[in-house]
Amino acid sequence: MQFEALFVPPGDDPFPGDVVDQPHISRYWAGFGTRPGDLGSIALDAGAPIGAAWLRRFDAADPGYGFIDGSTPELGIAVAADYRGVGLGTRLLDSLTDHVGRMSLSIDARNPAYRLYERKGFVVMSRSAMSLTMLRTG
Ligand SMILES: CC(C)(COP(=O)(O)OP(=O)(O)OC[C@H]1O[C@@H](n2cnc3c(N)ncnc32)[C@H](O)[C@@H]1OP(=O)(O)O)[C@@H](O)C(=O)NCCC(=O)NCCS
Repeated sequence: MQFEALFVPPGDDPFPGDVVDQPHISRYWAGFGTRPGDLGSIALDAGAPIGAAWLRRFDAADPGYGFIDGSTPELGIAVAADYRGVGLGTRLLDSLTDHVGRMSLSIDARNPAYRLYERKGFVVMSRSAMSLTMLRTG
């Protein structure tokens, strides 16, 4: 799911499969569930994962791409390509916001997921080149 969560802008080459093992990406998923604040939901179809949304906190010494502060978890979310656009991502996000109001994320400005986040109350806090940091305060 972490691989599926990486947005590839139109015309760009896909990421190599092992990109998720690189430290700047693996810190979002490695040992998930073992750190305070880790919270996630998985959608299954016949027992196979087809989507997930997850929250993890970072600290200022090793900030995530959407870092706000050490108490604000960052959102990761992905739905497998064949299942997109029918509301699964919304349901996964809702399953987290039912429990945690405040969260942040980093998004490429070209990613159509922007609409989903805006609809769910995220606002842009900062922009660096094509990368936006968005915050939802609950
Ligand atoms: C973002 C993602 C998780 C949304 O899941 P989903 O099941 O497609 O979402 P939903 O069907 O609940 O909602 C779709 C909304 O997101 C937007 N959207 C997000 N990604 C989209 C895509 N790839 N194609 C079309 N619409 C997309 C739609 O505009 C729609 O907004 P609307 O309801 O206001 O019209 C999914 O598209 C995905 O995995 N994308 C690739 C990975 C990614 O970009 N992750 C986020 C990184 S910040």
